[in-house]
Amino acid sequence: MTSEEVRKLFLDYFEKRGHRVVSSSSLIPLDDPSVLLTTAGMQQFKKYYTREKDPIKDFGTQRTASIQKCFRTTDIEEIGDETHLTFFEMLGNFSFGPVGDDDPKNFGTDGYFKRSAIYWAYEFIKSLGLEIDYVTVFGGEKNVPFDEESYKIWKEIGFPEDRILKRGREDNFWGPTGDEGPCGPTTEIYIENIEIWNLVFNEYYQDKNGNLRKLEFPGVDTGMGMERLMKVSQRTPTIFETDLFEPLNKVLENLTNKENQRKRRIVLDHLRGSVFLIADGLYPSNLERGYILRRILRRLTLALKFLEIDISKIELLIKAMIEKYAAFYPELKNFDKIKEVIFKEIINFERTLSLGLKEFNRLIKGNESDSELGEKLFLLYTSYGLPLEISKELLREEGLVWKEESQKVFEELFKKHQEISKG
Ligand code: GLY
Repeated sequence: MTSEEVRKLFLDYFEKRGHRVVSSSSLIPLDDPSVLLTTAGMQQFKKYYTREKDPIKDFGTQRTASIQKCFRTTDIEEIGDETHLTFFEMLGNFSFGPVGDDDPKNFGTDGYFKRSAIYWAYEFIKSLGLEIDYVTVFGGEKNVPFDEESYKIWKEIGFPEDRILKRGREDNFWGPTGDEGPCGPTTEIYIENIEIWNLVFNEYYQDKNGNLRKLEFPGVDTGMGMERLMKVSQRTPTIFETDLFEPLNKVLENLTNKENQRKRRIVLDHLRGSVFLIADGLYPSNLERGYILRRILRRLTLALKFLEIDISKIELLIKAMIEKYAAFYPELKNFDKIKEVIFKEIINFERTLSLGLKEFNRLIKGNESDSELGEKLFLLYTSYGLPLEISKELLREEGLVWKEESQKVFEELFKKHQEISKG
């Protein structure tokens, strides 16, 4: 099954069950100052959980479904391994407001809760021909009790009890996004030891001080990672061989014969992420979300250099990516603008990088103590403009480890430098 088919199956499945299909919101949140970028499907629906907005008025139903563009930066330095991504798509179904008849046979428009959400998730996964390995439920911690209801529903479905695992707050309590918002216990579906689908039962609102209060009406917020789903359904070794990346892999194959997997994956992830961010109106800058884009474009430049890919050739990668996604995400159609922003940033950084790389190779001998490494990377930063995260990536290629002590020395020097510049 292709990713295009899976997107359609998912949205059709929930549309048939009373959900209004809603387009992905922008990666740049419209009215949520608590986050820099959109990180979850529920973000555009936050105000429906708190009743500040009325789902009936806006959607004609208390149920929605979407495939949301998401961008997470927490693991940016892990990109290049088999599992991490910055940009990804999340398939989700949502319920807001008073719960009506929580029966999976109820295809109406009223709110639902745990029973329908769990039954439907189970049925949808089975309809794709996939086998669930195990599920997890919230086992209870601090002031939030064990989610016995979800546990019982899985048992009622006939799911073997020894594969319903109880987990704590760290694993099975989700949200809020940003510093406040709806949140709650989760039940999660695992296939091949990968968390595929997270069903969040938004029963609480967490305020800025971390205090939980019960929401007037509980809601449902589910999130299923598209890339992970495609990995298990297409049985590929990693997410990077799924059809989502296939057109990019093909182009890459013709552009480089370097086998550096890590750098290839950085190209796949960062190129895709940049294209989507730029299509939503973001420009690289030194501030907040603009800096996120700048960071990934710089890391992309470095990866291209390692793979010995001529910068002008990334046009082919951008084109292949847009062709793969533009039918579902029409905002990607502005190829010329996207290309221009990427080229400009990469060409600008290329000069700094070439010089910095030369100095890095001259300066770093490989036998430095932790604090010497901190000092040297600071010098590369102040004298040659080589950003720390790029130097760290270079160290990694040399097999050198950046430790806490090096970071500390770097930060101390940085602080002193700032004080001096301030006068
Ligand atoms: N909102 C559910 C998730 O991101 O997993």
